[in-house]
Amino acid sequence: MSPVYLDHNATTPLDPRVRDVMVPWLGERFGNPSSIHRRGREAREAMERAREHVAALIGARPGEIVFTASGTESNNTVLETVCRTAGGRGRIVISGFEHPSIRRAAERLAAQGMELVQVPPDANGTVSADRFAEALTPDTRLACLMLANNELGTLQPAAEVARRCRERGIPILVDAVQAVAKVPVDVTELGADYLVLGGHKFHGPLGAAALWVRSGVPLEPLLVGGGQEGQRRASTGNVPALVGLGEACRLAALELPERMRSLAELRDRFEAGLADVPDVRIHCAGAPRLPQTSNVAFPGLEGEALLLRLDAAGFCVSTGSACSSGRPEPSPTLLALGIPAREALASLRVSFGITNTVAEVDSFLNALHREVASLRSLLGAGV
Ligand SMILES: Cc1ncc(COP(=O)(O)O)c(C=O)c1O
Repeated sequence: MSPVYLDHNATTPLDPRVRDVMVPWLGERFGNPSSIHRRGREAREAMERAREHVAALIGARPGEIVFTASGTESNNTVLETVCRTAGGRGRIVISGFEHPSIRRAAERLAAQGMELVQVPPDANGTVSADRFAEALTPDTRLACLMLANNELGTLQPAAEVARRCRERGIPILVDAVQAVAKVPVDVTELGADYLVLGGHKFHGPLGAAALWVRSGVPLEPLLVGGGQEGQRRASTGNVPALVGLGEACRLAALELPERMRSLAELRDRFEAGLADVPDVRIHCAGAPRLPQTSNVAFPGLEGEALLLRLDAAGFCVSTGSACSSGRPEPSPTLLALGIPAREALASLRVSFGITNTVAEVDSFLNALHREVASLRSLLGAGV
């Protein structure tokens, strides 16, 4: 039996409707979108249609969309090129729990002489717009704030922070990789300069992502070579994957309200079903969150041991911890909230997707109750 997949913030299964529109582009409809013959023109048209769907989902203009291969590439492009072209001096302000594709790119720039300031989130998993604004100085070259946190699902005040940045003439990058297609995202309402999304987080294919760049805002290419993507990203477009990204965006735009409703129903059912597990703690339960992410601590247990038990029982979830030298390290995101290391190590992230069912939630709850009780009794027996 295939496992019940509850790790959609890591990646999502390809929607069969998306796969259907991709298949011809993996076969007979091949072509280089830069070629001027018929095959090239057809590939180009398919890519441009995809660009329109991506733009429509976030209220942008198609010409503002730069296709990339991943959220990581999009984030790196902005940090590397915006800061480097600013002379490699000055300040970068990011939140204290940005994704590593922002944090590590910023740290690399800091190692080369820029100043990196990280604004910590509060205990509720939210970065205060006031605190963020306090870190903005006249020499700030770039601000970065994610729209939804990947581990907690908490929504960030990106529109308010963007307003503060605009008042000071500071460009802002909003990493919306976890937010797009899960909550409404509109670049006009957000008022940012750069926004990043990635198709594999919402039932599109891996290898296709986008960087939105507000008209008139500069962007240097990270990859240089041919003049593709309006000189903003060299290399031959990955037509099948981009066609898939476009379709995933088109479907998300049509289905977003219903997806939000049904995902929230699954998440709420799951969280209500935890009530009779002794000592559980749902992180940031009171904060505005994505409709489908739950991060839960089971104090006294090791999240990784629980994850492996659940995996053996047929359920895929995740911990935010990283394993280095055989010992799990607590999630930096949970630590940034002031959660003690032991509790961070006892946490699991459960992220639902559009194909999950109520029956799957109920069987997961049964397995979770069983495995938590079993691990606790082993611990109680000193095993
Ligand atoms: C918030 C956030 N930003 C960026 C990324 C990186 O995206 P990708 O896996 O497409 O490189 C992720 C992936 O998990 C993410 O959660």
